[in-house]
Amino acid sequence: MKRIILIGYMGAGKTTVGKALAKELGIPFYDLDWYIENRRRKTVSEIFAEVGEEGFRQIEHNMLHEVAEFEDVIISCGGGTPCFFDNIDYMNGQGQVVYLKASPEVLYKHLLMGKGERPLLKGKSKEELITFIREQLEKREPYYNKARYTVDVSLMDNYDKIKITIEKLRELLEL
Ligand code: S3P
Repeated sequence: MKRIILIGYMGAGKTTVGKALAKELGIPFYDLDWYIENRRRKTVSEIFAEVGEEGFRQIEHNMLHEVAEFEDVIISCGGGTPCFFDNIDYMNGQGQVVYLKASPEVLYKHLLMGKGERPLLKGKSKEELITFIREQLEKREPYYNKARYTVDVSLMDNYDKIKITIEKLRELLEL
């Protein structure tokens, strides 16, 4: 039974890599944010607006316990998932957890485009964004570093490089 759980900061490419790996292995892919949105029939931004971050973290925690029971799946989590409650320890007990690691500069580049859809980044200027990423990543890395595996994805910015990342993952996880 395979259960692979991808973690890492926003913009690291968890969803992109997860989808591609699931396709290659021919197993289902679950993105925790999408799962939450489906189950609650609301976007993550709407949930943040209605119940705040604290409410969202509780929902995220509960939903993690649902998806992490599925078998033969790839799961990608939200950037904050491993950093609340005992989520990271739970994940380590449930599957092969992989930290997709990238530098603040790379994350910043990826996030410049998608920051509008992410409640934690909305409305930040470019300067505020890079500072926020640096500071938050530093706080989150102790949790991310608890993953059993780490793959550096700093160079993953085109299709070939995604393929290389998938190859690295297959080797590392013996898939
Ligand atoms: C968050 C990351 C988001 C989403 C929510 C909070 C975070 O997921 O769960 O906006 O705290 O880092 P992605 O990492 O998929 O953007």
